[in-house]
Amino acid sequence: MEKLWAGRAHGALDKAADDFNSSISVDSRMYRQDIRGSMAHAASLVKTGILSGAEGAKIIEGLGGILRDIDEGKLEIDPAAEDIHSFVEAVLTERLGDTGRKLHTARSRNDQVALDTRLYLRDRTADTIELIVKLIDALCVQAERNTDAVMPGYTHLQRAQPITFAHQLLAYGMMLSRDLGRLSDAARRMNYSPLGACALAGTTHHIDRMMSAAELGFDGICLNSLDAVSDRDFCVELTSALAITMMHLSRLAEELILWTSWEFHFVELSDAYTTGSSIMPQKKNSDMAELVRGKTGRVYGDLITLLTMLKGLPLAYNKDMQEDKEAVFDAFDTVNACLGVFAPMIETMTVKKENMLAAAKGGFINATDLADWLAKRGVPFRTAYRLTGEIVAWCIENGKTLEDMSLEEYKNFSEVFDEGLYEDISIAACVEKRTSAGGASPVNIQAQLDYLKQVTS
Ligand code: ARG
Repeated sequence: MEKLWAGRAHGALDKAADDFNSSISVDSRMYRQDIRGSMAHAASLVKTGILSGAEGAKIIEGLGGILRDIDEGKLEIDPAAEDIHSFVEAVLTERLGDTGRKLHTARSRNDQVALDTRLYLRDRTADTIELIVKLIDALCVQAERNTDAVMPGYTHLQRAQPITFAHQLLAYGMMLSRDLGRLSDAARRMNYSPLGACALAGTTHHIDRMMSAAELGFDGICLNSLDAVSDRDFCVELTSALAITMMHLSRLAEELILWTSWEFHFVELSDAYTTGSSIMPQKKNSDMAELVRGKTGRVYGDLITLLTMLKGLPLAYNKDMQEDKEAVFDAFDTVNACLGVFAPMIETMTVKKENMLAAAKGGFINATDLADWLAKRGVPFRTAYRLTGEIVAWCIENGKTLEDMSLEEYKNFSEVFDEGLYEDISIAACVEKRTSAGGASPVNIQAQLDYLKQVTS
């Protein structure tokens, strides 16, 4: 296939250099966006009289035919082509002759690739948003089933205070709701058309950038032609949002790995999302969660790739920028694959409420409540804290829990204690009474579910 830029050069490109230069293996996936962009470009060239109506119609029909043929597998994308833009234009010219050669008037591959990437990522972002919504839905379903599942809340991975499993899951729902916000924000900022910026400086042809922008569903046009072709902020922003999503998924993955261990045994994953061992017959491994945790590094790597590739690049287009797509596509592929297994895995997991409750009963996780009981009766909190610490130490030495100490034993520590304390330090009460806004009480679950419903609808 003759190079788009043949003319100036006398010699052919070295084979290894040609392969090295080619991006078709990465950008061929943008063929739909490339063709759609070319159709809008052709239509706007007709409007401003650069192409005749007949030429425009022929080009648009020709592009439609190429799209159909690729979709139906009748036209194979040539792996030897330089990139998807060259390929589509070459096929069009092959099919239409000189009319096909007119399409690239008032356009460069620099604005073309910026356009295609924005269009493609807009679609991918919509897919990811949908997948995140599905995961939030799965978390909400499990939360609704587990508003009464009392478990220890942890700090430093040490049992800290009692909470419900619903509350724990909805914390992840909140994180993911912010991820939705970040992706939508980035998508909104990305939604401006670079088409018509041409190579770097715009064009002397009379073109109508607003027309093609509107046709392609953009909210407006990039106002500086240099910025239009050299901006890849949208790749960085989206990958950064995706890296944060992976960080969230990785935290949840880590919890699932812990919860499914025999040490915790809070959760059992469906057989559909676990694997066994080739030698140890008893094993049930949380491979999906481990892979999600492991793949997080890839997406962080993609972000660093993009930031480093762009750092220090002079305006406007530089070939370095061809490296953008592999990174940002990998970030989307990875996140979407992770979300795709995570949502059904969460929805089908079995929760071992009895094991959670048993864990909540150990570890003195009602100690704060005992200190609070004293503080509510006028004992300064610092004093109450100290006294409770001494009581816990006494319990550990004497093999008791705060619930099964007698009132007499309590009175040895302070005369303030009375029968009423037992009610406040029961594990159930410790959760139920944490009714402060956003606290662990089941009365706060509905507000969280309502919020998540609202942000996902
Ligand atoms: N394959 C190129 C890329 O992805 C397309 C733009 C080529 N532009 C150029 N001036 N060589 O960046």
